[in-house]
Order: sequence, then structure tokens, then C-alpha cells
Amino acid sequence: MAVNFTKYLVRQRGGSLEAIIAPKPLVIQPREVLIRVKAVAINPADYKMIDQGHRVTSWPLVPGLDGAGIVEQVGDKAGHFRVGDRVIALFTPGDSSGSYQEYAVVQGKDVVKLPATSSLEEGATLGVCYLTGIIALGIGLKISLPFLEGGPTSGVRPSSVLILGGSSAVGAATIQLLRLAIPECRILATSSTRHHDHLKNHLGVDEAIDRKSSSLPQDAKQATGGCQGVDAILDVVGAGRTQKDIFEALSSSGPKIYAQVWTGDEQIDAPDGVNSIMFRGRDLPQLPGNQNIVCALERLLQEEKYKLPLPVHHVGHGLSALERALEIMRQGVSGEKLAATDFPVSLSEAHPELKKDYGVTFDPLGVAAILYNQRADRSAARLYTQYDRNLFIWPHMTMIGGTLPPMQMLVERLTAPFKWIHPAIKMCAKDTTMLPIRSDISGNVFRQLPYNLSNTWLSDIISFEPSEHPGNDFAIAYVDRVHQKPKKPKKTDKDANPAGEDHEEEILIRSEIGNVRWQAGRWTLNLLGIINGAMVLTGMVFGILLADIWAFTLFLLYSLHWGASVAISIDSMVTVHTPPRIVPESSDRFAVYEREEGGTVIFKGPQRTLETWARSTWEYDPSWDKDFRHWLWIITGSLSGIASVACMVNMQGRMQLVFLGVLVYASVAEIGATRIARILQTKAHGPIAQDFVRKNATRSLSIIQATLTVLPRCRLTGLDWIKMGLLPDMLVFREMQALLRDISQILGHDKEDSDPLAVTVRALDIKDRCLRFVDKVKTEDSARGPLAMRIYDEIYNQTLNLGEVLPPKEGNS
Ligand SMILES: NC(=O)c1ccc[n+]([C@@H]2O[C@H](COP(=O)([O-])OP(=O)(O)OC[C@H]3O[C@@H](n4cnc5c(N)ncnc54)[C@H](OP(=O)(O)O)[C@@H]3O)[C@@H](O)[C@H]2O)c1
Repeated sequence: MAVNFTKYLVRQRGGSLEAIIAPKPLVIQPREVLIRVKAVAINPADYKMIDQGHRVTSWPLVPGLDGAGIVEQVGDKAGHFRVGDRVIALFTPGDSSGSYQEYAVVQGKDVVKLPATSSLEEGATLGVCYLTGIIALGIGLKISLPFLEGGPTSGVRPSSVLILGGSSAVGAATIQLLRLAIPECRILATSSTRHHDHLKNHLGVDEAIDRKSSSLPQDAKQATGGCQGVDAILDVVGAGRTQKDIFEALSSSGPKIYAQVWTGDEQIDAPDGVNSIMFRGRDLPQLPGNQNIVCALERLLQEEKYKLPLPVHHVGHGLSALERALEIMRQGVSGEKLAATDFPVSLSEAHPELKKDYGVTFDPLGVAAILYNQRADRSAARLYTQYDRNLFIWPHMTMIGGTLPPMQMLVERLTAPFKWIHPAIKMCAKDTTMLPIRSDISGNVFRQLPYNLSNTWLSDIISFEPSEHPGNDFAIAYVDRVHQKPKKPKKTDKDANPAGEDHEEEILIRSEIGNVRWQAGRWTLNLLGIINGAMVLTGMVFGILLADIWAFTLFLLYSLHWGASVAISIDSMVTVHTPPRIVPESSDRFAVYEREEGGTVIFKGPQRTLETWARSTWEYDPSWDKDFRHWLWIITGSLSGIASVACMVNMQGRMQLVFLGVLVYASVAEIGATRIARILQTKAHGPIAQDFVRKNATRSLSIIQATLTVLPRCRLTGLDWIKMGLLPDMLVFREMQALLRDISQILGHDKEDSDPLAVTVRALDIKDRCLRFVDKVKTEDSARGPLAMRIYDEIYNQTLNLGEVLPPKEGNS
């Protein structure tokens, strides 16, 4: 059987990491070991390879130098390893040997057994910094390495070394190795002060120096005792690039060594007389005893002579953790090593299988996660709100996937320490949000408009896509009717809901959408709900036939909950309460809603409509049947939720499949039903006029269009832009408002008259009025003359669009 596994790779330089499934390498060479990688550590080299292609010979690249895992297969000549050993290894980025994958093939000589005291996560961070530390000492400083079998036995023996970057991984490894190599050496190291304790108490440096000190060379000299300076500087972070005076810390009588790690940048220039050496990983073959480096690490770890250099920061699991870790690494880490564990999270093992027996297969938390989704929450709220209940019944499919809202209500009810607001009202509130607005209705009657989220025509208006000039975008709606009327108007509410209006409305809709399509939409919604119920009832019957008490209980509860939902759907649980004493004022007013994301929505409509809208509230009118339906829904919903976890884990595998099928159907059906309901509702609100003004580079042009060229009902002729805070209070804008008002009048007057002579007269009137506007602005506020001219040009172009051909502009100025 072919076994697949997860690989994380980058396809080209600068590309992003992606996860792919690859076949597991089943055949390995005699000297190779197959490791199942469980943890990786992230090195700066990883992102430098990915971003800049450092040392990458071919793409795609599986990155990763450091990692730890379990031995899966061992070649005949690969060494002393056994399947199941916990190991770390020196990985080679490329293809099969990079550590960013679930299985990697590594040469046995590069594998190290991990002592039982170290976790795989810690082990993963040990390799590269150790290796670089050895090279730093053996090739950079050229000192003897007594702990390395076959390693250099003679060499320089500095009495003091300053390590730049003590809190880096390489620095922390090098400090330990230097102490092992020359125990009496005075080791100084730089880092941020917060790492000084770690450097002194854990790694054993003699003196930790603040790397940001303005007198760093002097501090280092002082720390050598006698102020003579250090014999060698080991720069493992490229600090010499910015710390140019660092060479002053070298003793004039010493060997004056400056050893720098290759960081991928240009070599750092050292002054004359300083013995500057650059070292890098690929210099390893030059080091005597290099073939024993890995054995030395294994021994040092076992003998506890080499410790974890830096604390490990666990970044998480899988692809997202790796991406995050690489990003953190690019920004720079401080005194810690990043590691991703349980790595990689195997895509290949994601084979959920439904059980075929009575065993437990479903994760209860997983089921709870399915049951809770915000869409279901909203849908449950809609069940009570029923925005368009007199037009169609919204099928509440999500009682299958949304049993948490009733559960939450029940808990709230049982634990509420205060007077309880009826849940029907709370549900309405869930489906409603308040739009902060400014209105020109005198007396500051309202500052908010309640926006019902299931009100699709309004949603479409307020969520319009902003253009690249969002400040100049306007959406305008003429609102002459806000709420759907309840199906059966109450006697007391007769004035607000005159009998017969619903019928008229329905006739209107039918003519809008077409009778057949209208009925088809309505019945499809009903059918979707009926199928839903049929499915849960069938599940119940099968529970009986299969003698599966758990399945029976689960489907019984869902059937009851479905029944309760239907009972709530067919009649209103709440009514819209319109406040008394609203002045029946029918002149048009405006309410302005400025969106946070840019763009302004302006509602225009009769004063009484806007005020009714702002001040209406949801009212729960308690009666025994409403209370019964409400409590039936709450209790069956809560029990269904509990049963979804409790029964699911115990019922037969095939019944679990059936339930899963019902869940899938309910979700898909709900999405379909939402779309149908949206079409019906939008059509139902066809008479609501709306228009948009977008993409204009200037606000004045948007205002001209909003006043003159949008749909006639939406035109904002009477709107005082300055008073509403939409234009600054300046002469030019005051005059512009007056000008637009006059032009509207000219255009409105005799607008049916398309006689060429009448058109010409209107055009001349407009031109004359524009010229007076320009003259006035030029005379009274000459600085705004060009602005006035621009406004004139904008009006000229817009009235051209209207068919009002202005005479040529010559002589305008
Ligand atoms: N060529 C090779 O074969 C090879 C092999 C391994 C590593 N490297 C290179 O060696 C460098 C270090 O690697 P790493 O894994 O050890 O890095 P690291 O752990 O990511 O280094 C981060 C640390 O560097 C310290 N640091 C940064 N600038 C400093 C400065 N001016 N003075 C003192 N400390 C400074 C920071 O100290 P504070 O937070 O205390 O301020 C931080 O703790 C990288 O550039 C890497 O690419 C090269």
C-alpha cells in the first residue's frame, strides 16, 4: 500500500510555503536513516534560503536544517540506531532531506540519539547552532577542541574572547563549547541586558555586556581586568557592521583575532593589523575530526556537558505555525529558539472514517463545533423576527445546526439575576443593529435607525462597495415604507395597517416578479422546510426499526424541535410597535449615515416614515399559545443540542451517517433558501427607489450628481449639505447649494416639455444662473474663483448628460 505524507515546500525564490502530499520514501540507501519528523526549529538560514535563494541549488525547496523525530527505518550501514529511537539530525534543505516534512531521509553520520531528558522540541533546536559553534572555534578562532575526537589539538589559546551576540543561538552554543575547549578563558559576551542572567548563570560567561552601550569597547576592555582588552572577538551576528569601533576592544599585545560568521552579507572590514577571518557551515570539511562532530554532540548531551543553549518558544503546529515562525524570524528573535512541534501535522492521516459498529467515532467537541455557527444564530433570530412573514415563510433549516441559541436562552433564563427580557425580543435585537445617523428633522428626535439584518434591500444599500474615492461616494434611498405589515392587523392598529394593504402588496409583488416565479419561490421555501422535517422523522422511524434507542432519541428531539420551529414560523411571535404621536408630516427629510469604511448613505423620505422607522420597537405580546411555542422550541432545541453529542457517540455507525446527511442537507438547503428569500424580498421591495453616486474625484461632482442626475425620487434637492456637516461652511458652497436648488427648479419646471425652444430656454437659464454664481464667488471670495469655475464645469458636463444642452462655454470667464 502506498503511504503518503506531508511535505512543506517553496516552489521558487521568494515563494510562499505550501503543503503537498508526497509518497513516503520506502526504500533508503544503506547509510541512510528514515526519520519521522516530529519537531523542527527555525533558523535565520531558513528564511534567507526562501527569500534570497542563499545556497539553494534547485527549486522547489523543502527547507529546514534543524529537526527531531523518531527513527522509522535504518540502512544496514547507517549506524547504531534502532527503529523507534528519538533522534535529532543535521538536515539538508533541498528535497528528501530538508526537515520541513513528515518523513526525511538523512545520512546516518548526521543523526544524534537524543537523551531521555530532552524533549523532541528542545532537541530540534540543538543541531545547527552547535555545528556553527564548533566551526566558529575550530576555523574562526583556530583553537584546539579537546572534546572532538580527531579534532585540532594545537592552536591559538586566547586568554579572553569577546562574543558579539551571546543571546543568539550560535552565540549561546559557542559560549558553552569555548568553556569546554579552554576552561580558563575569560569569556565576555554582548546581549540585551534582559538576557544577562541567562548568559551568566546558565551559560557561564564571565561578564555580560549591554550590547547597546555607547562605550561598548571600553566596557569590554574593563571587563578583561587590567583593561588590556580581549585577545579575540567572535562576531556571530554580524554586529561589527554597525559597531565599527568594536576593534578597539582588542588587546594591542594579543593575537588580535576577529572571527565573523557569514550572515549572507558582505564581509565586515577589519582595520589593518587585525587578523580577520570569516567562517561558514560549508567550511566544515576543512576541520580535522569533522566526521566525529555528531558523535561528540551525542556524548556531550549524554554527559550533560552541553545544555540547551536557549529557551524554546513553541510556535504551534503545521503550515500556519511555520509561516508564523518564519515571519517572526524575519523580524528578529531575541534570546530564544523557535520550534514547531507535532510537526508536520499530517495531511495524509486525515481520513475520518465513520464507524460500522457501536464504537465511539465522533469527537463530541467536533459535533458541538458543527452545531454552533453564527449563521445558525442569525437564522434562529430570524425565526422570531420574521421580517417578511406576510410574504413567505422562512424555512428555519438551522434548527439542525443551531441548537445552541435555545440552549443559551435557557441558561440565561435560569441564571439571570435581573428581571428577564423576553427572549423573543432578545432574538430581534440579535438580528438588529443601530445605524448612527444625523437627521434634519427638527428637535433631534432621533439619532439612530434600527437596521434589521434580514432586511436585504437595506443591506444592499448600506454595504455598497466603496470606490477609490470613498469620501465622495453616496448611496441614496427613498424610504416611503419601512416595515412589512403584520398579516392580521390588530384592531387597535387599524390606522397604521389598513386592511387590504397586504393583499395589495402581494398583487404588486406578483406583477413585479411574475406570478409563477413568485409562487415557485414561495413553494420551494416551503418544500425545503418540509423535506427537512421528513428527514428527521424518517431518522426517528429508522431508529425504531434498527432498535437504536440513541438514534431514536436524537431524531425524536429534532423532530419535535422542527415542529416547534414550524409553529413559530407560521405566526408572528413579536409585532412591530410604532409609537403614538408621530406627526403625520409628509414633507421629505433626510437622515445621513456615514460608514466607517467610507461612503455616505442618505435616506430620504417623508418625515413621518423616517421618524416611525427610528422610533419603532419590537413588542412581545404574551399569550398562552405564544408561550407554549416559545418554550417548546427552547426545550426541544436544548435537548437536541445535548443529544447531538450524547446520542451521536453511542448510536450505530449507519445512523451517524444519516444524521451527518441531515446536517449536510440542512446546511446546503439553508444557503439555497437564503438566496431564494433574498430574491423574493428584494423584489417585494421593488418600489423603494435607490441610487448610487460613486467613483467621483471631487465631492462637489458627487453632490451635483446626487442633486441633479440620480433617480428623480432620490434627488437630494432640499438637503442642506452644509448644515448636515457634509460640506464646509464657505461662501462658495453656500452659493453652490443655492445654484443647485435653482437648477433643480429650472429642470423640474416644464420638464415634460421637450420642445426644442423650451429646452434652449432652460439651458440659457441654467447658464445664466451659473455665470452669476461664478461672478459672485469671484467678487466676494476671489481665492475660490477657480473652485467656482470647476463647479461650473462639473455642472455643465452633468447637465449635458441630462440632455440639457448648454450653449457653448465661450465667454464663461
Ligand atoms: N554561515 C553559516 O553557516 C551560519 C550558520 C548559522 C547561523 N548563521 C548566521 O548567524 C547569525 C546568527 O544566527 P542565530 O541562529 O544564532 O541567530 P538568532 O538566534 O536569530 O539571533 C538573534 C539574536 O541576535 C542578537 N543580536 C542581534 N544583533 C546584535 C548585536 N548587534 N549585538 C549583539 N547581539 C545581537 C539578539 O540579541 P538581543 O535580543 O539580546 O538583543 C538576538 O538574541 C545569523 O545571521 C545566521 O544567518 C550563519
